[in-house]
Amino acid sequence: MPAIRVTKTEAEPVKRRLKKLGLYDGKRRPKREGEFVLLPVPEDERVYSLGYEVLPLELPLRPERQLYKNLESVLTGRLSEEELKHLRRYDIVGDIAIIQVPRELSHRVDDIVWGLRKVHPFIRVVAQKGFHEGAFRIREYSIIWGERRLETVHKENGVRIKVDLSKAFFNPRMKGERYRLAQLVRDGERILIPFAGVLPYALVIARYKRVKITAVELNREAYELGLENIELNRERLRGEIEFIHGDVFDVLPELPAHDRVISPTPRGVDALALTLDRAEKWLHYYDFVHEADVGAFRTRILDACAMLGKECEVRVKKVSDFKPHVFKVCADVRIR
Ligand SMILES: C[S@@+](CC[C@H](N)C(=O)[O-])C[C@H]1O[C@@H](n2cnc3c(N)ncnc32)[C@H](O)[C@@H]1O
Repeated sequence: MPAIRVTKTEAEPVKRRLKKLGLYDGKRRPKREGEFVLLPVPEDERVYSLGYEVLPLELPLRPERQLYKNLESVLTGRLSEEELKHLRRYDIVGDIAIIQVPRELSHRVDDIVWGLRKVHPFIRVVAQKGFHEGAFRIREYSIIWGERRLETVHKENGVRIKVDLSKAFFNPRMKGERYRLAQLVRDGERILIPFAGVLPYALVIARYKRVKITAVELNREAYELGLENIELNRERLRGEIEFIHGDVFDVLPELPAHDRVISPTPRGVDALALTLDRAEKWLHYYDFVHEADVGAFRTRILDACAMLGKECEVRVKKVSDFKPHVFKVCADVRIR
């Protein structure tokens, strides 16, 4: 990818011009070089006819792209171009790297582990992930390098989350979503979190807001990790967390309504009517929806509101890709 070299005073107006022309590569970071600034541009012949100095160099990717790209770049030369195309996105949970190795790369596992350790020297375990299993949504993992454990402490949004991937569900990719919710919450709210897992949502919200949270989880091992997590973060939390071990479908009908309910619903479980019934002002309901069914999902929520005599506004937000054409979504339901 080339870069355009301009003086510091020219940098802002030139950047604006490039953006207008669709010739600014926002995935990369500009770089200062003495009195000059290097602006990232795509490989496009129009770049050479703008009258600026164009240099053939590769500016660094911004952090969110870097994670994957760095692995790709350290493996360039070891893996063929064709093999590099099969590299999948991976996750880092604490000091564990979690990867998927497609069939096409099964003979390259050692190189991939080598690359991961080069990009993330702190990792102590590399695990290959399988599918989520059963009601507790625990994945199958096989450790392919390092210490024989799946327990670690993950840092996210200013909290420490102890997880054991062999015993309880945890998804580091929901970090941004947890932060989004923490920003929506106001001090003083009473919040109910069914399907709470090891408490990532509760911890992040209580870290930032003075709230009272009641969380419910059925998996005994996730529940115990959650209790440990409350202690681990005790000094950091502004809010309070009460954690109940039990089945959401038994526990929720016994609980009072709360200002806000956050339901990270496991796939295939329908807890819409139950969670909506316990919500006074807001429900954030997660589900997995085919892109063609988003409208029907919204209608289903509006119907459930009508059944409960609640007047609601519903906004459905795509949270992540799940599989082709199917998304994990969050319905933000405002109850009037
Ligand atoms: C998709 S995971 C979400 C966990 C957690 N909120 C997170 O984001 O990491 C769903 C969680 O619901 C729990 N679960 C499943 N069925 C349940 C039930 N009937 N009552 C309570 N918890 C349940 C599972 O054990 C799992 O921890």
